[in-house]
Amino acid sequence: MNIGIIGTGAIGGTIAKKMAAAGHRVKVNNSGDADKLNARAEELGVASAALNDVVKDVDVIILSVPTVAIPTLPKDLLKNIPEHVIVVDTSNYYPFRDSDIEEIKNGKVESVWVSEQLGKPVIKAFNNLLAETLANGGKRPGAKDRIAMAIAGDDTADKKIISGLINDAGYDTVDSGVLSESWRHQPGTPAYCTELNAEELKQALSDGEKEKAPSLRDKAIADLSSLPSYPNHPDVVKYNRELFQKNPKSV
Ligand SMILES: NC(=O)c1ccc[n+]([C@@H]2O[C@H](COP(=O)([O-])OP(=O)(O)OC[C@H]3O[C@@H](n4cnc5c(N)ncnc54)[C@H](OP(=O)(O)O)[C@@H]3O)[C@@H](O)[C@H]2O)c1
Repeated sequence: MNIGIIGTGAIGGTIAKKMAAAGHRVKVNNSGDADKLNARAEELGVASAALNDVVKDVDVIILSVPTVAIPTLPKDLLKNIPEHVIVVDTSNYYPFRDSDIEEIKNGKVESVWVSEQLGKPVIKAFNNLLAETLANGGKRPGAKDRIAMAIAGDDTADKKIISGLINDAGYDTVDSGVLSESWRHQPGTPAYCTELNAEELKQALSDGEKEKAPSLRDKAIADLSSLPSYPNHPDVVKYNRELFQKNPKSV
């Protein structure tokens, strides 16, 4: 497939590499000047493109920028993209980084807000695994304890196509429902960055509690940042799992 990715950081960069390795044609854009963008694209082994071009002649656009950056994108960026082009949102809202976005703070589902900002439907995917998991935790289809990723969106056919890309990246997919249900894998839920297999993730998605998620998200940031040094990846995953009385890895 032809894939345009906006954002070449921990997540967008990893997706770019994985998609290129799987044989897709990938072009990327970030907030840097042309030299920095070209250097990053070269490092990732993909093409670079200006913002207006990264969304042209592609089947899938992956938006992998901090939530706060989404309203700064040009208002008409996606206006003329053909209807069949799928837009994927990888974002997670963190107030300490993304400032106060009142609608999300008042309970609007994060990717519903993103979709409204863009004026386009989005599929939420690639948001509930840490970048390190995404980079190193992939396994071949059918492998024991293959990690699963949550996906949400209103278009079943689009979700199937994006599930194919997730499979190419090394992960199973669990459909969490329509976009308005995607709070089930936002920060502060048992499905978030807990490295579960498909059966466990289904259970975790059903165990999530929308009202409790923001305070658990903020607690996690406060707890992990208060340690003398930021914990290593397995300890972060362990911490995330233990935030919930019902540890999803034990279901
Ligand atoms: N890190 C994780 O473990 C993880 C896991 C799942 C989901 N997510 C979510 O995925 C999103 C990206 O996360 P990340 O960790 O990859 O962030 P990151 O490492 O900080 O990278 C962000 C990328 O967005 C680009 N960017 C920022 N503003 C932009 C703009 N206005 N136009 C074009 N590009 C812009 C940055 O450009 P420059 O390179 O030029 O700075 C950078 O490439 C966030 O919403 C995050 O919450 C992160």
